Order: sequence, then structure tokens, then C-alpha cells
Amino acid sequence: APDISVTNVQAHLTQLNSIATSNGGNRRAGSAGYTASVSYVKGKLQAAGYTVTEQTCTTCTYPASNLIAEWPQGPADQVVMFGAHLDSVAAGPGINDNGSGSATLLENALVLAQQNPTMTKRVRFAWWNGEEQGLQGSKFYVNQLTATQRGYIKGYYNFDMVASPNGGYFINRITSTTAAPLKAYWDSFGLQPEENTEGQGRSDDYSFANVGIPTSGYAAGASYTKTSAQASKWGGTAGSAYDSCYHRSCDTTANINATILNRAADGVAYAIWQLAVGGTPTND
Ligand code: PHE
Ligand code: ZN
Ligand code: ZN
Repeated sequence: APDISVTNVQAHLTQLNSIATSNGGNRRAGSAGYTASVSYVKGKLQAAGYTVTEQTCTTCTYPASNLIAEWPQGPADQVVMFGAHLDSVAAGPGINDNGSGSATLLENALVLAQQNPTMTKRVRFAWWNGEEQGLQGSKFYVNQLTATQRGYIKGYYNFDMVASPNGGYFINRITSTTAAPLKAYWDSFGLQPEENTEGQGRSDDYSFANVGIPTSGYAAGASYTKTSAQASKWGGTAGSAYDSCYHRSCDTTANINATILNRAADGVAYAIWQLAVGGTPTND
């Protein structure tokens, strides 16, 4: 799998922070800052050769687009999906929550297009509106899929807060087959990842799990406190929150752990290559 440049991921975060600053300090669902965030991601994807769909979440509290981009190689009836919410809370620019997951997926999408490998599965990326109002954008998306379309999605991987400054290495449904590539990548560095108990039912993977689609994902933690055992194995400060700027105005580019961000971004590439790249060429 390719190495994803954390410098490039951070450059996307700098752009998202600027977008917030220029639009009242946030990227809240449906706001000008959100719309500008969609335009930024969409423009990068289109320049790389993606066909990008904007799906208006009409049932969202603040109606605006979910952004869907599929790399048009591999069998259309076997899809692995990677998603992150692109909206912030109103209180701040949302750079760890969730510029980090959004930029991680954007850079992975760009690298996949640039490498253009032989695909054994179809890869679809999504950036959600309205997560902060209750997973609304992702729920709207799964609700509009037919049963057949849902059946095509073999796994959904979620990335919400993957660069928490005092973070840890958490994986959703860590013992599942779905989680195996994400876990294998972090295990290869001896990172001793743990189950993402804090995040259960609290991000967009829940929308997919609720309709029977297997899920996993990476997270680095939100407002819960790092234990001394976790600080011993991962470093950081025991007795402090994983992200003390969670849902606050200080969730800026200064609120990013570049080491965890790098390992998350590279782990996504590892998973994409393990799940969807290689083997014998197939016809769509
Ligand atoms: N879904 C939460 C939010 O966006 C973030 C979160 C993720 C909280 C994981 C806890 C665990 O605010
Ligand atoms: Zn949040
Ligand atoms: Zn979030």
C-alpha cells in the first residue's frame, strides 16, 4: 500500500481551518462554512478524475449535501465504503472533529486515483452532512438505498476524530473480520489498539450498522479521560481528555496529533489495498 503524506493531509486541514475562519468561525451543517468545505473536497476529487455526487440531505435539520465519490474500477456490486462527517459544531472550526477524518479520506481518494491500481472491489468515499445533529446525513443516505444497493456494501469504515492531541488508538468492533485490516496495520507497529467504547452508537457507522452493514473504523478519542495504563503504552497525559478542545473553538489546526493522524491515514491506505486492490483483473 502507498504511504499517505501526512503533510498533504495537514494541508487539507489548513484549508478547512481557513474556510471556517472566513465563514464565521465554523463549518456547521448547512452553513456557508459547510458549503465551502463541500466545494473544497469536491474540487480536489474532480481534479483527480472522480465523478462526485452531491446528495442533498433534505431531512437534515440544516439541509445540505452529502458528498459521494466512487472510484469507477472493480465490480459495482461489491463495494467497500469509507466515510467521515464533514460538518463541525457551531462552536468552532472542527479540525480534529472532523476535519481529521475528512482530510484522511480525501488524501486517500486522491492517492488511489493517482495510482490507479487494478481493483478487486469497488471503493466508495462519503463525506456526511449533519452528523452533529444526530447522524442525520448518513441516516438519510442509507434510507434512500434500495435493499439491493445496501447488499452491495460489504463493509463501511468510519473516521471521526483520528488526530486527538492526547489521543489513543481505538478501533470500532476491533475483533470483527471487518476490522482486521485496520487492526493489522496498527498491530504491525505494536500500538496495542483498544475497542472504541467511547464512540459506540455516536457516529455515522451506527447508521450503517442499523441496516445490517458490517462496520469498523479508527478513532483517537473525544472527551473521555486517558487512563494511566493508556498513557504508559501510548504516551500522552493520564487523567486528561483525549481531546480537551472537543466541540470548542480551540479545535483548530493546533489541536492535531500528527503522529496519530499519520498512522490513521496510512492504515486507511493499507485497508483499501488489502480489501480492494490486487489480484486478477476483473471486468465490471
Ligand atoms: N460523534 C462524535 C461527534 O462528532 C464524536 C465522537 C466520536 C465521540 C467517537 C465519541 C467517540 O461529536
Ligand atoms: Zn462532534
Ligand atoms: Zn465527530
